Amino acid sequence: MRHLMSPLDFSPEELNQLFDLANDIEKNPGKYAHACDGKILATCFYEPSTRTRLSFESAMTRLGGRVIGFSDANSSSAAKGESVSDTIRVISCYADICAMRHPKEGAPMVAAEKSGIPVINAGDGGHQHPTQTLTDLLTIRSLKGRLGQFTIGLCGDLKFGRTVHSLIHALVRYHDIRFIFISPEELRVPDYITDMLKEKNIPYEEVIRLEDVMPQLDLLYMTRVQKERFFNEEDYVRLKDFYILNESKMELARDDMLVLHPLPRVNEIAVEVDKDPRAAYFKQAQYGVYVRMALILTLLEIHI
Ligand code: CP
Repeated sequence: MRHLMSPLDFSPEELNQLFDLANDIEKNPGKYAHACDGKILATCFYEPSTRTRLSFESAMTRLGGRVIGFSDANSSSAAKGESVSDTIRVISCYADICAMRHPKEGAPMVAAEKSGIPVINAGDGGHQHPTQTLTDLLTIRSLKGRLGQFTIGLCGDLKFGRTVHSLIHALVRYHDIRFIFISPEELRVPDYITDMLKEKNIPYEEVIRLEDVMPQLDLLYMTRVQKERFFNEEDYVRLKDFYILNESKMELARDDMLVLHPLPRVNEIAVEVDKDPRAAYFKQAQYGVYVRMALILTLLEIHI
């Protein structure tokens, strides 16, 4: 039985197969409409979510399966003190596969160790968000035609943003990637990540001003400042609007640069940018459904 805890759980070859499957699902949805007849997905979300939970639910429904679950720890027996280990043992009696989001780093891994069904990490604290990374990679591969040979700018909260941490770990396995980390000093990417890049001889630079690097970028990955991970409100208020991508900044970018964002957005991308053909973040949300459909089929070992 296989779980998904980190994007590195799949080799680059396996990821290519997964993305080929996701692209086939996009082109031929009818072929997969009954692939999961009789199967049940449990969505166990101890933290808020719109995209991840609902795209998993949409994915399973589009595959012909059904969904059970909870979207708030307070509406589950966690509110009475039940452990994640006990919860997953019980969920294993009710469902065939589980997607779990939890505020504590490593909680889905603890669940996987006790689980009788595949567990997917749907985001654990500030640690990893592997299915967002699968979404990001599929979006890049589908819209750019390649994974590799590009300069990517990651902008915003690089300290707490788990999507950023997962994406960097996944991208280092491809050729000719150059990272530009754009953040205020307080929200710099963690040292363990820059140490890993140094060790692998992967080029990166850290800058504060987005405008200075816009012309160099093939991809710009914007992120929101993660309010829920701050220890005090004052710091959040000071940093929340540090970056706002608007039309005038977009004028500095290449014609074929893509803007990605895992969403939700707060103020970091002005709504006026949405109509720019380089804004790919809503397409990215759509790719999230195809890749989660492909992931469910792969983990359940269903071949169509
Ligand atoms: N991108 C993402 O994880 O969004 P949600 O928090 O809405 O699931």
